[in-house]
Amino acid sequence: MKGQITLGIESSCDETGIALYQLGRGLLAHALHTQVAMHSEYGGVVPELASRDHVRRAVPLIRQVMKQANVGLDQIDGIAYTQGPGLGGALLVGASIANSLGFALDIPTIGIHHLEGHLLSPLLSDPAPEFPFVALLVSGGHTQLMRVEGIGQYELLGETVDDAAGEAFDKSAKLLGLGYPGGPALAKLAQSGNPGKYKLPRPMLHSNSLDFSFSGLKTAVLTLVRQNDLSEQVRADIACATQEAIIDVLAHKARAALAQTGLTQLVVAGGVGANRLLRDRLTRDIEKRGGRVFYPELEFCTDNGAMIAYAGALRLAENQGSKDYRFDVRPRWNLQEIESRYPR
Ligand code: KG4
Ligand code: ZN
Repeated sequence: MKGQITLGIESSCDETGIALYQLGRGLLAHALHTQVAMHSEYGGVVPELASRDHVRRAVPLIRQVMKQANVGLDQIDGIAYTQGPGLGGALLVGASIANSLGFALDIPTIGIHHLEGHLLSPLLSDPAPEFPFVALLVSGGHTQLMRVEGIGQYELLGETVDDAAGEAFDKSAKLLGLGYPGGPALAKLAQSGNPGKYKLPRPMLHSNSLDFSFSGLKTAVLTLVRQNDLSEQVRADIACATQEAIIDVLAHKARAALAQTGLTQLVVAGGVGANRLLRDRLTRDIEKRGGRVFYPELEFCTDNGAMIAYAGALRLAENQGSKDYRFDVRPRWNLQEIESRYPR
C-alpha cells in the first residue's frame, strides 16, 4: 500500500515554501518563493509586506508542486503548516490556507513548530542520523543546542542569552554596509579577508555552560568599523574575523555538548548551517574525535516547505492531526512546550 501524502506549507517569515511528502517514498516535490529581493530595499523583513506576498504566492505554488508531483487534490491525505514561531500575520496566511483546504477536502491538518521542522530536516537526507543525537540549531532567530531523543523529545542543553548566531551575522553585515540577509553576504566578503588580521571576542567560550552570547561581538565589530578607514580590504578582514569568531564559538560549544551527553552524532540545522566554513570546521573537529556530523541539503538549511511536510507526515501518521479547522498561530513558541500541543 502506498504511504500517506502530506502537503506542507511554510510561511513563518520571508519565504513561502510548499512541499509534498509521501511516507515510505520521500519528498515528491517542493517549491520555494523567497521575498529577499522585496525586503532588501528596506534592509530587513517588513512583516506586512511579507504577509501580503504569502497570500499572493501560496496557492500558485501549491498548484505548481502538485503538478510537478502529479498528485491530485483527492490524493492528499493531510496538510501540515507552520504554526509558529514567526511573524503573526505571515503565519496566519499558511494556517488559514491549510485549514480551509483541509476543510474543503475533509482531511486532517496539523500545526508544526518551525524549529522542529529545522531540527528534523537532516532526516530528509541519506544517510540520515539515528536517534539520539545532539542538534545545533542556528537560524536568524535561534541558537540552541538540543538533545534529541526522538520525535518530540527535545531537551534544551544551551541557548543564546542575547542575539542568535544568524542575527550576529546579519547585524555585523549591516555594520559593514552589506545588504540583507547578511549571513551569505558576509561569508562571501570574508573570502577575500586575511584570517587573523583582527581578533574579535568569543564571549562565554570557556564557561562550563552550553549557552551562547553574541551581542558583544556586534559591539566589537562596531568599534572596528568606527576605528578604521573602511577600504574594501579592511571590510573583508573584519568580515573574516566576525565569521571566525561566530564559527569558533559554535564549534566549541557543539563539541562540548557531545562530550557532555556522551553522544557521537551532531545534527546541524537552520540558515547558518548553510555556512561552508562552519560545515568544514564542524566536520573536521568532530570526525577527528570519532563523531559524525549531519547536515540538511543546502536548500533545506534555510526556510522551506519540505521540512514542514516531513515533520507533519510523521505526526499525522501518529494521528496527531485534527479535523477541527479552528486555528491559532503562535508567533512566540518555545520548542520545549510542544509536548502539550500533541496529546497522545
Ligand atoms: O533558518 P533561516 O532561514 O530562518 C530563520 O528561521 O531564522 O535562517 C536565516 C539566517 C539569517 O540570519 C541568515 O543571514 C543566515 O541564516 N544565513 C547564513 C548563511 N545563509 C543563511 N549565515 C551565514 N552563512 C551563510 N551561508
Ligand atoms: Zn527558519
